[in-house]
Amino acid sequence: MPNPTSPSTIHRTDYTPPPFLIDTIELEFELEAERTTVTSKMQLRRNPQAAYCPELQLSGEALQLISLRLDGVACTNRQIDEAGLTVYDVPDAFELTIVNACEPASNTSLMGLYLSNGHFFTQCEAQGFRKITYFLDRPDVMARYTVILRANKAAYPILLSNGNLIEAGDLPNGKHYAKWHDPFAKPSYLFALVAGQLVALEERIITHSGAQKLLQVWVEAHDLDKTHHAMDALIHAIHWDEARFGLELDLERFMIVAVSDFNMGAMENKGLNIFNTKYVLANPQTATDSDYANIEAVVGHEYFHNWTGNRVTCRDWFQLSLKEGLTVFRDQEFSADMAAAGAVNAAAARASQRIENVRILQQVQFAEDAGPMAHPVRPESYVEINNFYTATVYEKGAEVVRMYQTLLGRDGFRQGMDLYFQRHDGQAVSCDDFRQAMAEANQRDLAQFEHWYSQLGTPYVLVRSQYDEAARTYTVTLAQHYKPVLNAPYTASAPLLIPFAIGLVDANGQDLALQLAGEGAPGTATRVLELNQAEQTFRFINVQTQPVPSLLRDFSAPVIVEYDYTDDELIFLLAHDSDPFNRWAAGQRLVTRTLLALARQAERTQLTGNQLNQSIIDAFGRILRDETLTPAFREQVLTLPTEIYLAEQMDQADPAAVHTARQYLRTQLANALSHDWSTIYARHQTPGPYQPTPADMGQRALKNLALSYLSNSKQSAHALHLAQTQYDRADNMSDRSAALAALIHLGGQPAQAALADFYQRFENEPLAIDKWFALQATQQRAEMDLIKLVRTLMHHPAFTLKNPNRVRALIFSFISGNPAQFHATNGSGYALWVEQVLALDTLNPQLAARLARLLERWRKFTPALREQMHEALETVLASVHSKDVREIIDKALI
Ligand code: PHE
Ligand code: ZN
Repeated sequence: MPNPTSPSTIHRTDYTPPPFLIDTIELEFELEAERTTVTSKMQLRRNPQAAYCPELQLSGEALQLISLRLDGVACTNRQIDEAGLTVYDVPDAFELTIVNACEPASNTSLMGLYLSNGHFFTQCEAQGFRKITYFLDRPDVMARYTVILRANKAAYPILLSNGNLIEAGDLPNGKHYAKWHDPFAKPSYLFALVAGQLVALEERIITHSGAQKLLQVWVEAHDLDKTHHAMDALIHAIHWDEARFGLELDLERFMIVAVSDFNMGAMENKGLNIFNTKYVLANPQTATDSDYANIEAVVGHEYFHNWTGNRVTCRDWFQLSLKEGLTVFRDQEFSADMAAAGAVNAAAARASQRIENVRILQQVQFAEDAGPMAHPVRPESYVEINNFYTATVYEKGAEVVRMYQTLLGRDGFRQGMDLYFQRHDGQAVSCDDFRQAMAEANQRDLAQFEHWYSQLGTPYVLVRSQYDEAARTYTVTLAQHYKPVLNAPYTASAPLLIPFAIGLVDANGQDLALQLAGEGAPGTATRVLELNQAEQTFRFINVQTQPVPSLLRDFSAPVIVEYDYTDDELIFLLAHDSDPFNRWAAGQRLVTRTLLALARQAERTQLTGNQLNQSIIDAFGRILRDETLTPAFREQVLTLPTEIYLAEQMDQADPAAVHTARQYLRTQLANALSHDWSTIYARHQTPGPYQPTPADMGQRALKNLALSYLSNSKQSAHALHLAQTQYDRADNMSDRSAALAALIHLGGQPAQAALADFYQRFENEPLAIDKWFALQATQQRAEMDLIKLVRTLMHHPAFTLKNPNRVRALIFSFISGNPAQFHATNGSGYALWVEQVLALDTLNPQLAARLARLLERWRKFTPALREQMHEALETVLASVHSKDVREIIDKALI
């Protein structure tokens, strides 16, 4: 039964065009922390494309209306409710002038206009603009903005908004103003303003057409030394988008501003990107290699939105993946090209990037797609749109875009992009429009491809193979199907078009030149088969000996491959596959299989002695020692799947058993290969000053993995010495935090001393203090009561629920990094979760909903845990306020 009190659900198929359009808007802000006044003058007209509607309904939330004028005359024929403002009997075209107030200082939701460290920021995606003023707050209403900001000059010397600065000056009473104009029509979710005491790193560049552009990265003064990497990334991104897609920066100036309190990673506001400090600030002392890589990716991502998202935007929020899937794909390609350009082995550098992307998809998106929040890349309905900024929309969406490129080739994909911009520049469009452009630019019928947008769940591809020695043929049968998800059994509506890349590896480890029946000559080593039916058979001819199939090379589609590889075949592929992604995948399959068997065993008995197949240890040892492989790749192969991923692979998730199994295998690999780990540790030092190059990053990653294994080995005294020395001598955060992690793992006085030192050293660096919290919350020490520790740390003066990064560092890191302790059988983890979800629910609903999601898979767990999780969900439901959290809990409980 639908809950009659629950907020209404919005359905994709209910879309109707906006009854009115807004051509221009002039906004004036009197910025005051307690109460800011906003004056909005808009030119409106009836939309010829929409059904006639006598009244105008504007969205508005938490606003106070001060005055309303229609064509200059005070207007009383209006009504205000929680959703906004209705103006009755309006003419066909008119000017509306609204004066309203909002309260930035008391706004803890971090949506709309709010304060962070005393500076003003806005966040309008998806529906934050309505917390600033009354408006048609939907992405298909695109207006030209002129913005005047007025504020106290001493407190807020810098006043920024979208577009170009056209005027600035002083005003009486210590105030000043700035006037900005954005020449491009945009939806309200791309509006932004920033006001505060900030400084900028500046660069001037010349773009493709010869135009000069001003680039700025705005931060607080003490962070200016941490802006260079973001600036470099921005310049690279600008050049890359010109070279790869022919897309040029369209504004005279492009600004990035860092903010400490932010719900997400960053935001692509037109010409004024606002970033979580975590994705801007880096210097060698405070940022790790992953931070450097993430900054490059996110700076690229937001910049690329300028075309994919801003110039061409979304018709409605169901089309979110139109901009996000495409832009994630673009940032992935950018990172891969950057890594390849800076690497000795370009192909290996690309593969390592691909592995990282797929790892996240498999860990996060596959789980999402099998749980109560499962939804298609283009969702059918939502209660709160903020809950649909998901791994499915972003990561699976990026895989869907990548499949066009796999099917059409790089050039074909580029032609599709060109046609897309040619047709839709300046418009708000749908995923169908994108698919149509890809199809028509390549004269291909892509009707079947639509199912990737409408079908939820991860497809399985069952593979059967048969070698006919007499006929020298090898047949591969591919069958696509779904498995029912837990509380939403579903089936496929129709078969998907799946690009399935395959290679056949002969007994010497060489790729065969593939020839399908009916073809005159052998072709390439990798073949993209197009699976477009429920089941299809492909027959390869001239196959002299029985090969081992290398399936779904480079992860050519977001599916799960089911094939009965023997351990020996996986060991063989791990050693020989020419596709580096599949080499890694073979290793992961092998190790996952081993860990799941160990977990089942751990549920019954103690894991003691050596329970492992020596050939598996040998196979991993050979990878570790193989100097022809990049250190980055070796690190990826030797990194075990996370506990969350492993639990997900069980019929009934048993976090304790998974933890025991994983720790056991870690120790076995640590001890069996301890000599190699020591050698690796000694050999992969990076002499010279810190550089975030792919080569150095790979060396550090492998070296620090060695340190981590050594700290799990019998040689703990040796590990302690190495960790201590590395901690003391480190000239960069990757090495220092890895050493601290090892010291924490080894425990005792050295751990306490290092933690104290780290805190002192970085007391004034919030992002480093986040690491201090996270490293403690994710430690794997068996005898440590982490729930107790997390509670103690929540009372630390540096902890606050108001800062999302801090909450993620402590609470989210603990829950996802240490499932065995979170799922304690006494329910203490769930009690913590209930408290914090409810505490955040009123403070910051968006963050609360993300925390709420960490229990959505409760049905997947063993009965004893499941019951307690159910109770915890019911407890939250009983006192939840926000529709954000309610939607998550409602769906989890269906
Ligand atoms: N649109 C942002 C991005 O993907 C993400 C975001 C969504 C940020 C909602 C804030 C609020 O780049
Ligand atoms: Zn994005």
